[in-house]
Amino acid sequence: MLELYLDTADVEQVARFNECLPVKGVTTNPSILANSGIGLNQVLPVLAKILGSDARFHVQVVSQTVENMVKEARQIAALPYDMVIKVPATELGLAAIKLMKAEAIPVLATAVYSAHQGFLAALCGADYLAPYVNRIDAMGGDGVGVVADLQLLLDRHRLACKILPASFKNTQQALDVLKLGVGAITLPVDVAEQMFGHPAVQPAVDQFTRD
Ligand code: G3P
Repeated sequence: MLELYLDTADVEQVARFNECLPVKGVTTNPSILANSGIGLNQVLPVLAKILGSDARFHVQVVSQTVENMVKEARQIAALPYDMVIKVPATELGLAAIKLMKAEAIPVLATAVYSAHQGFLAALCGADYLAPYVNRIDAMGGDGVGVVADLQLLLDRHRLACKILPASFKNTQQALDVLKLGVGAITLPVDVAEQMFGHPAVQPAVDQFTRD
């Protein structure tokens, strides 16, 4: 079953969408947390209360060395929630992922901009890969194409790794990666809203009400 995440630390929006969608959990990154003005230790218990005990949280390490990334991952993984550690899929990040997986720490390789980069992270044992669809598009690339290549590589090599595409600016990008059969997706609030907010829907419902 597809894992649906919200790419936000906005607790009101998470509560809102949890009412009407099967939200698996929340993904954050350092920018999202910085913009929310609320720290991880404050926001996690609130999100866990909203989403319940099955909720999964993807939280990124900010350390700059392999050793410190692994230490930070251990601390995050020890929190009393279902935690997945986001690690940028750089050269150092891949080294850290190998060490984390040797300790069975759940890992998402993030900041994936190419299929080959993501594939290497999967080979290192990452449980999830987060290609940045819109950021790739914005650089003149093909974000959906990268996801398609990655899904094909994972299937061909029978790697037990889920693609969790991130960075969306419109519903078409989200629809296109969902059509590829990805195992997960994380949507920003505005795109999640647009998914069921077609402008013709409410007028149709209003007309039914009047009739
Ligand atoms: O965590 C990655 C994702 O949040 C990036 O989204 O909109 O900043 O490209 P965006």
